[in-house]
Amino acid sequence: MDHEIALFAEVHDILLVQVRDLLGMQGERFNAGMAQLVEDLAEDFRLEEELMTALDYRGRDRHVAEHTELLGSLRSLAPSEARAALTWLPIWFQQHLANEDTELAHALQAKGGRRHPEDAARPVSGALEEAVR
Ligand SMILES: [Fe+2]
Ligand SMILES: [Fe+2]
Repeated sequence: MDHEIALFAEVHDILLVQVRDLLGMQGERFNAGMAQLVEDLAEDFRLEEELMTALDYRGRDRHVAEHTELLGSLRSLAPSEARAALTWLPIWFQQHLANEDTELAHALQAKGGRRHPEDAARPVSGALEEAVR
């Protein structure tokens, strides 16, 4: 596996761990964890989108549309739908990684990578930082 693709995959692996942990939570902890997951995703997508802008990436609009659609779906979930969302979310990620993120990783590789502002506080962002270096 190419270096950049492996690192994008690592970001998604971290999210899968977050999903698995959430499935073991209940009530307010679950709700707070779910809200945190959505915010973490939004931050990861934001970093990817910055990267696409920096690369002047041709596939940006289509890729961003996938991010936007997912965040919209997650933010409009009824409380009773949240747990079910955790079963389709990993499938969405697998597809997004195989298609959009892989294509972006190739574009990144072709241009030799870019550095982004430091954001090492969160492990997911840290891994994405590594991916864009
Ligand atoms: Fe991604
Ligand atoms: Fe993406």
